[in-house]
Amino acid sequence: MSTLKIGVIVGSIRPGSLNRKLADAVMRMTPEGLETEPIRIDDLPLYNQDDDDSPAPSVERLRDSIGSSHGIVFVTPEYNRSIPGVLKNAIDHASRPYGRNAWKGKPAGIMGITPGKMGTSMAQQHLRNILASVDMPVLPQPELFLHAHDSFFDDDGNVAADVHPLLQRWIFRFQDWARQHASQSA
Ligand code: FNR
Repeated sequence: MSTLKIGVIVGSIRPGSLNRKLADAVMRMTPEGLETEPIRIDDLPLYNQDDDDSPAPSVERLRDSIGSSHGIVFVTPEYNRSIPGVLKNAIDHASRPYGRNAWKGKPAGIMGITPGKMGTSMAQQHLRNILASVDMPVLPQPELFLHAHDSFFDDDGNVAADVHPLLQRWIFRFQDWARQHASQSA
């Protein structure tokens, strides 16, 4: 396997999202051997189990995008000490119908940014529980709890020089993790 294709899912659907900005910056830092692809979740209907046999086109598209990815990176805010409903909705959609869990075996990484001091740590812990349930091996360390201080991003939307090495290290660790687990998933 030469290049790994990594789907990137952002848990915030607002245009001004800090997490979207972080995801965009991280995608620009992608090293050789990794290719990143944003996976949208903003147009999914609310999950309804009775629709499992007649999924909306956006749900089929989500399943296909996950299926063609070797791994998934989740970049998410924390809402009320957990993950936003839009992200949980997307995870539920692609986990069903029973026996067709699109997430199964896909290596995952998690990061998040917030103006708050806790750096999305509670949301990330909840997300780890959920991803265990849909059978995704999640990079254990390093954890990335990012605090959005004034100079976190530069004028071009790139991460500031003092944060750059931290993110770069995480990306290399995730690349190794994805390579280790991807052969069983894609
Ligand atoms: C928040 N925010 C927030 N922040 C945090 O660190 N812990 C939390 O539990 C919450 N809870 C919360 C609930 C709701 C409903 C909203 C709208 C916001 C603040 C949140 O981190 C901030 O709005 C971020 O900017 C949201 O991420 P995006 O949209 O900028 O990516």
